[in-house]
Amino acid sequence: MISSDHVRIVEVGARDGLQNEKTLLPATVKIELIDRLSDTGLQTIEATSFVSPQWVPQLADAAEVFGGIRKKPGVSYPVLVPNMQGYQRALAAGATDVAVFTAASEAFNRRNINASIDESIERFAPVLERARADGVGVRGYVSTVLGCPYQGDVAISDVVRVARRLHQMGCHEISLGDTIGVGTPAKARAMLRAVAGEVPMAALAVHFHDTYGQALANILACLEEGVRVIDSAVSGTGGCPYAKGATGNVASEDVVYMLHGMGLETGVDLDLLINTGAWLATQLHKETASRVTRARTAAA
Ligand code: HMG
Ligand code: MG
Repeated sequence: MISSDHVRIVEVGARDGLQNEKTLLPATVKIELIDRLSDTGLQTIEATSFVSPQWVPQLADAAEVFGGIRKKPGVSYPVLVPNMQGYQRALAAGATDVAVFTAASEAFNRRNINASIDESIERFAPVLERARADGVGVRGYVSTVLGCPYQGDVAISDVVRVARRLHQMGCHEISLGDTIGVGTPAKARAMLRAVAGEVPMAALAVHFHDTYGQALANILACLEEGVRVIDSAVSGTGGCPYAKGATGNVASEDVVYMLHGMGLETGVDLDLLINTGAWLATQLHKETASRVTRARTAAA
């Protein structure tokens, strides 16, 4: 049974959503997206990534976007940083929350950030140290928690090891990412349960891509297990450019619809979110991947 309480949505559309889109949106449109999202009641909106512009050209305008958004009081706007260079760029742009990212699979990590898991964690150590001194919050992502496009199966013990390490190093929240959306509910539940044996559930988040259409089912299993932080992307955009076959994140509209239908509260205005998702789809010249937005706009 799920008790009625609050679920925090971490909206990743402006980052995970846009990093893998063929259409390059101008900074002004990205800024409008984030400003619209700020008005929906979302508490956490990942804004962009300070990664190498050679690796992710879609987010080369990170500083311009971050500098241009209206920072709504009470909303946090974390940004991804892969190393100290990214951290310094993020701080110069005014970021007060960052996220570091690694994986449970060596093969994926090598392709995504050109480092082994241990090397990437070594890179994060000075970032975490500086962040602590600067009063900057650090989230940690673990990718490929339910499968890797290069290695195949990923051992739960590897997920636990990496998540525990990031938490011990000072990441206040660990997001467990099914990067290529291959997981199924029983596996998602078992993985989360194992990680929660080492990292408090209150410090865990789940991050599902919907490649195989399993994301909502996986989220439900994880809610039943006790997680209360869910990553999702408005309009179901996204995917990692270095994860072969990865498609969009689960759509925020669909997650919020499900949560509200279950009596869980998010503080998010679903109608405003649907409007924003529909608007984003037109900007990207594609149909929304949100089933809720499709249903509502077809009915309108
Ligand atoms: P590298 O080539 O090994 O880096 O890339 P390097 O340290 O050798 O530097 C090479 C060049 O990049 C140098 O420039 C650096 O200055 C520059 P040059 O001297 O050649 O002119 N550089 C940078 N420039 C700007 N910002 C920086 C930066 N760092 C180096 N921060 C690196 C290593 C990590 C930089 C690269 O692999 C990279 O940026 N990777 C990012 C890939 C990425 O963003 N992937 C998507 C995000 S992860 C994800 O989507 C998964 C997630 O959603 C969860 C899930 O779904 O599972 C989070
Ligand atoms: Mg992702």
